[in-house]
Amino acid sequence: MANNLLAGKKGIIFGALNEDSIAWKIAEKAHEQGAQFVLTNAPVAMRMGEINNLAAKTGSEVVPADATSMDDLNNLFEKAESILGGKLNFILHSIGMSVNVRKGKEYTDLNYDWLTKGWDVSAVSFHRVMQVAWQREAMNDWGSILALTYIAAQRTFPDYNDMADNKAFLESIARSFGYQWGVRNKVRVNTISQSPTPTTAGSGVKGFGGFINYAEKMSPLGNATADDCADYAISLFSDLTRKVTMQNLFHDGGFSSTGVSEAVIERFEED
Ligand code: NAI
Repeated sequence: MANNLLAGKKGIIFGALNEDSIAWKIAEKAHEQGAQFVLTNAPVAMRMGEINNLAAKTGSEVVPADATSMDDLNNLFEKAESILGGKLNFILHSIGMSVNVRKGKEYTDLNYDWLTKGWDVSAVSFHRVMQVAWQREAMNDWGSILALTYIAAQRTFPDYNDMADNKAFLESIARSFGYQWGVRNKVRVNTISQSPTPTTAGSGVKGFGGFINYAEKMSPLGNATADDCADYAISLFSDLTRKVTMQNLFHDGGFSSTGVSEAVIERFEED
């Protein structure tokens, strides 16, 4: 399905850790559609070197950056503009991590140092990335900036823990900065609220197995996969969605609008 939807477009893709990563699939499809981009991830996430396979496959260069470091981000944008030979048309923020989730801390017993670290990585980093791009005037007019989120920002999913609050923060940043970008550069900023997806970050959530099966049964179209998400992201980077901005876009097979499904009721019916 290569239609050259992103021909001539240049970007930065954050968050491809391994083949399962949503960002990995988006990078593959962006390449198929003619985009050129720089891949980036936290230096510590590159130890296994898997990102180099993606770089080779997509003809991209890799520039390490911790998304919570302004120095790293400034260096990344400087290198990206030099490698790509100009300003950017798209940015993908596909980053999330909660230390409390990782260490199995309950929501009623959070460690606030870990909470602070988690919101910096998962939410404030999106502001940092956009602020660096803003101050460097790194985006072309009519560009597109996108982050990944989850419905726990709107509804309670107890095991999602403090990531729920991080996602609410992230979505709010998309709206607030989206306004500024729209006025100055006609750049759009959106979040995709994705179905549960079996990735390193996703599988780290307690009870993920039950959770993903439940979502599958609750969604009329079934869960959206990472590949499906990549298709949607391509549409949002393309010129076909130029007036979509400051939106949280549910990409979940209908989960967010379903009260209950017959498949779920059947499980609870008594004889
Ligand atoms: P993943 O584990 O493959 O990707 C998370 C990425 O964040 C990794 O590449 C990791 O290295 C990067 N990261 C962590 N700390 C960083 C830092 N300080 N600087 C730069 N990068 C850093 O998992 P996945 O699922 O592809 O996650 C991507 C996004 O999708 C995240 O925002 C996640 O919350 C979101 N999402 C995931 C869902 C799922 O069920 N997997 C559902 C809805 C949203």
